[in-house]
Amino acid sequence: MTTHDPDGSAAVGVVVVAAGSGTRLGAGLPKAFVEVDGATLLEHALHGLLASERVGEVVVVAPAGWEDRAAELLGLAASSPSPHRTAVVTGGAERSDSVAAGLAALSDAVDLVLVHDAARCFTPPEVFGRVVDAVRAGAAGAVPALPVVDTIKVVDDEDRVTGTPPRASLRAVQTPQGFRREVLARAHAAAVGAGAAATDDALLVEQLGEPVVAVAGDPRSAKITTPADLADRQRRDAVQEPTPPSHAAAPGARTDRPATALPRTGVGTDVHAWAPEGDDRPLWLGCVEFPGARGVDGHSDGDVAAHAACNALLSAAGLGDLGSVFGTGRPEMAGASGAQMLAHVAGMLEGAGFAIGNVAVQVVAPRPKIGPRRAEMEAAMSAALGGAVVSVSAATTDGLGFIGRGEGLVGLATALVAPRG
Ligand code: CTP
Ligand code: MG
Repeated sequence: MTTHDPDGSAAVGVVVVAAGSGTRLGAGLPKAFVEVDGATLLEHALHGLLASERVGEVVVVAPAGWEDRAAELLGLAASSPSPHRTAVVTGGAERSDSVAAGLAALSDAVDLVLVHDAARCFTPPEVFGRVVDAVRAGAAGAVPALPVVDTIKVVDDEDRVTGTPPRASLRAVQTPQGFRREVLARAHAAAVGAGAAATDDALLVEQLGEPVVAVAGDPRSAKITTPADLADRQRRDAVQEPTPPSHAAAPGARTDRPATALPRTGVGTDVHAWAPEGDDRPLWLGCVEFPGARGVDGHSDGDVAAHAACNALLSAAGLGDLGSVFGTGRPEMAGASGAQMLAHVAGMLEGAGFAIGNVAVQVVAPRPKIGPRRAEMEAAMSAALGGAVVSVSAATTDGLGFIGRGEGLVGLATALVAPRG
């Protein structure tokens, strides 16, 4: 162990339970070895806890057959030479079996144990410190916890509601959960049989009658359990700026990233020539038809307002532009209406994790008169975008340029989008 240890970190051991099979994730391999954001869940978890500076020992509990891979990842995550004592052991059938295996592998120097789920792989380092401080302050155990936002009901076997605990007294608990080592060992020994399948170590300690306190948890500690959890995480990564190279952390270390990115603006234009005189094709602007007005040239419906809005939305989300989305590679969209294109773009943004703040569209043309149809255009484009706020305005060029000469018209748009929290 380290000889210079003013903060007592050597006496703090973390058991990282990573031996689950990840049935609900269904990735075809144990969950801790699934990759997200360029590294396995286990690597992310190790980077977070090793960055806390409060930890002396790390025991990874791996599924049978995955011990070597776990040791390799642990070796990569711990700096070399490492101030940490590290070990890998094989887990058991239940989470509590895996915790017990990890506990048994800690050195005698450890008197405070943190049990941490590898599946809570984005837990920020400071949470480890808060838990250690609470146990050092005298609690037998400490759990990171968040207030619950939903009203919680208690139901019986037949789903009849039997109670509604006051929400202010409820907390959702996370890991790392910290304990005086002696207490946790006693709790696990007492639980053999009855509580052997417990998914929460604090429960076992509570059953001994020992005091457990809640400290502030962190939303980033959310557990990755289902494919939707993984997809959420991937979407969030897709909308975040890459870490600048000068600040690049070790692979997988993303604990410095904000949970949400800032809103983003986008800009878009579209230009079409008017159709030749005598051509009877209809004019579409803002997903609304203008009967009797001269139509525009081109193979689409030529809706410059809708097309500019699409470009602005794609620009804001960093998803390209109409050319790259509906270009030659997408023949099925060649005859698409402005409304269909807006709906497609809205779906792309949804898939990338963005909510639309608003879209502002301006049509620059001497005719037709937009004012009388403005509300209809706004409603039609909004409907195509699933209800997003759209505003429409119009301008002319005082007779100047190709617009003034009656050669064509222009759609301009800006859009504001925000990553969904
Ligand atoms: N865990 C473990 N040993 C087990 C079961 C679970 O070490 N026998 C660990 C998991 O690896 C995970 C944490 O406990 O880091 C939380 O469990 P959970 O999210 O349920 O993961 P899995 O059990 O792997 O998933 P599932 O229940 O969907 O199979
Ligand atoms: Mg499980």
